[in-house]
Amino acid sequence: MSTGHILEVEGLHAHYGKSHVLQGVSMRVGEAELVTLLGRNGAGKSTTLKSIAGAVLPTGGRVRFQGADVAGQPPHRIAQRGVCLVPEHRGVFKLLSVEENLLLGQRRESPWQLDDIYRVFPRLKERRRNGGGQLSGGEQQMLAIGRALMNHPRLLILDEPVEGLAPVIVEEIVAQLKTIKAAGVAILLVEQNLEVCVQLADRHYIVEQGVIVHEAANADFVADHQVKDRYLGVGLA
Ligand SMILES: Nc1ncnc2c1ncn2[C@@H]1O[C@H](COP(=O)(O)OP(=O)(O)OP(=O)(O)O)[C@@H](O)[C@H]1O
Ligand SMILES: [Mg+2]
Repeated sequence: MSTGHILEVEGLHAHYGKSHVLQGVSMRVGEAELVTLLGRNGAGKSTTLKSIAGAVLPTGGRVRFQGADVAGQPPHRIAQRGVCLVPEHRGVFKLLSVEENLLLGQRRESPWQLDDIYRVFPRLKERRRNGGGQLSGGEQQMLAIGRALMNHPRLLILDEPVEGLAPVIVEEIVAQLKTIKAAGVAILLVEQNLEVCVQLADRHYIVEQGVIVHEAANADFVADHQVKDRYLGVGLA
């Protein structure tokens, strides 16, 4: 039985020691859908992403991916199923070349091979022989996303992919994410830059103190200034 959702999170809990950080997060991502998870600093966004990907062990609730309950499985097992988390600090190997970094993610059965990555990210092709340490912040982010694609994700999870990047690079990455989405990859995005979020997303969730407090389709979210002010403390021009 298919629900049309690739990811279904139900009542997810997570602790750091005695600190009860996720207190029953429920959310869904559809096939080829781009969903954002928004919220203030410390609300539990990164912890939610890590709990889905297995980097943090959930202490309660369900994570169903393509119908299978994956909560509690080790990260590599969840990744094998097609959940790829690109964490905040990017994880580019500085002493390896761009191409070597990409090949680390390679899977023979993936529809995303080197040429496909270079088509989406022409800068990476130009820089293929450069060391990871020689890349700009934006190029490192592209490389991290490209490597995740090589690993054949059905769900790509991105934690603040454009944080600290120059506006022109942000625009480039937004266009690249649109291309990746159009290829049918579902994306779960955490990003503080609301302009980026509303350009890309089909739907948004807002998390506050470890609970989802709001859900909206993109058009409704864009029109709803009260919600942005109340939960995020920002207005959107
Ligand atoms: N490794 C950790 N050990 C203990 N507490 C942690 C750890 N990581 C996060 N926390 C705490 O858990 C809560 C949720 O953190 P999380 O990183 O999920 O928030 P976030 O919404 O991603 O915030 P930000 O916008 O700052 O990235 C915060 O109170 C944070 O201080
Ligand atoms: Mg975070």
